Order: sequence, then C-alpha cells, then structure tokens
Amino acid sequence: MGSYRISAFIFDLDGVLTDTSELHFLAWKRLADEEGIPFTRQDNEALRGVSRRESLRRLLKGRSVTEEQALEMMERKNRYYRRMLSELSPANLLPGAVKFVENARNRGIKVAVASVSKNTRVVIERLGIGGLLDAVADGYCVVNYKPSPDIFIFAAGAVGTPVSECVVFEDAEAGVEAALRAGMRVVGLGPTERVGKANLVLPDLSRARVDEIISILSGTGIPA
Ligand code: BG6
Ligand code: MG
Repeated sequence: MGSYRISAFIFDLDGVLTDTSELHFLAWKRLADEEGIPFTRQDNEALRGVSRRESLRRLLKGRSVTEEQALEMMERKNRYYRRMLSELSPANLLPGAVKFVENARNRGIKVAVASVSKNTRVVIERLGIGGLLDAVADGYCVVNYKPSPDIFIFAAGAVGTPVSECVVFEDAEAGVEAALRAGMRVVGLGPTERVGKANLVLPDLSRARVDEIISILSGTGIPA
C-alpha cells in the first residue's frame, strides 16, 4: 500500500464546523411559507451545500419567477438568515469541531475553510474561530459553486498545498463531489445516502481522530 502525504485539511463550514444548516432551513422555510410553497425538512436536504441561487431554483420547484422577483426572494431569505446570525456564538460550534481543528494544527497540518456561502466571514467571526484558520475561501472567491471543484482548488492554493495533499471534510453530496473532482480525498460527515461517495464516512467530528484519519487516508491517493 502506498503512502500519500497529507498536508492540509479543508473544512466546509455550514453543517461541518457549525449547525447553521438549521438556520438556513428556517430562513428558506419562512420565505416558502410567505410564498405559499410547500417546503419540508426533507426538501431542505437537497439544498445542502448548494448556492443561494440554486437553492431558490430548487425551492421554487419549477414555478417561474422574473429575475427581479428571484433577486428579491434571495435578498429576503438572506435578511432572515442574517437576523438569525446576529444570535450566533461559539455555542453554535458543533461538538468536537474546535478540538479537532486544534489537533490538526498541532500536527503541522494547514487548515482552511471552503464554503460557497457569502456569509462565511460573518459566521467565522461570530463563532470566534478566525484565529485557527490559515485561509478562508467563500462565495466571493469563485464563480462556479459546488459540485464544481473550484472553491476547494482555490482553498488549496490559499494554503500553498497541492490538491493531492488536501483532505476535505464535507456534509453535503455536492461538496463531496466537488472535492473528488478537485482530486482531493474526502471525509463525508453524515448518512451514507448523502456522503457515501467519500473516501471515509463518519457521523460527525465529535469522535473523529486526526491520527486515525491520516493513517486511513494516507493509504489512498493519487500518485503525485
Ligand atoms: C452553503 C450552505 O454553505 O452555503 C447552503 O450549505 C447555502 O445551504 C450556501 O445555500 C449559500 O449560502 P449564503 O449564505 O451565501 O446564502
Ligand atoms: Mg455544508
């Protein structure tokens, strides 16, 4: 078995380091209710990890709207979401997330966040984790969103690490696909129906061990 170097961990934000996925759901739900569109938690699963515009497209379920209406709806949803973010604090970090990031840093692993959310920087600030990160790639850094690999490639460049040495942590199907397309190894967090294409699947970061993940994934890789 070969041994493939791992030098950087790239974390998705919503649903990986913090529980903001619930806030995204509540904000979309309010918009959907106002517009008389049925929208359930199960519908919301299809929105995980995808951009604001694509989320709206999926929520509308084929209902046609003008560009002006679409912009207004995205703005309204974001307003509801931003209001909820004002209450966000380090208490919203998912169990074990900070410890895991700290352990990675102590091993000399570079750490970045890569999220297509345009609210990434606000969320990081409210969570108080900016000091733990070597780089942040957000929805303003790239044009093509997940499942396009661009955001992860951007993040790899920002930490000066070849894509083959990066491991991504993702909770969304679109994110797992994006990471694989970037030529990176992926740890999928959540049910296998959602993240089963990842190289390794874990329920969340609460019991994840840096050493164990490195030892499992260094046997898997693309020869440099
Ligand atoms: C992703 C979330 O991180 O960001 C999606 O998983 C969200 O639910 C997307 O739609 C875009 O976020 P924002 O904050 O720019 O609307
Ligand atoms: Mg996510």
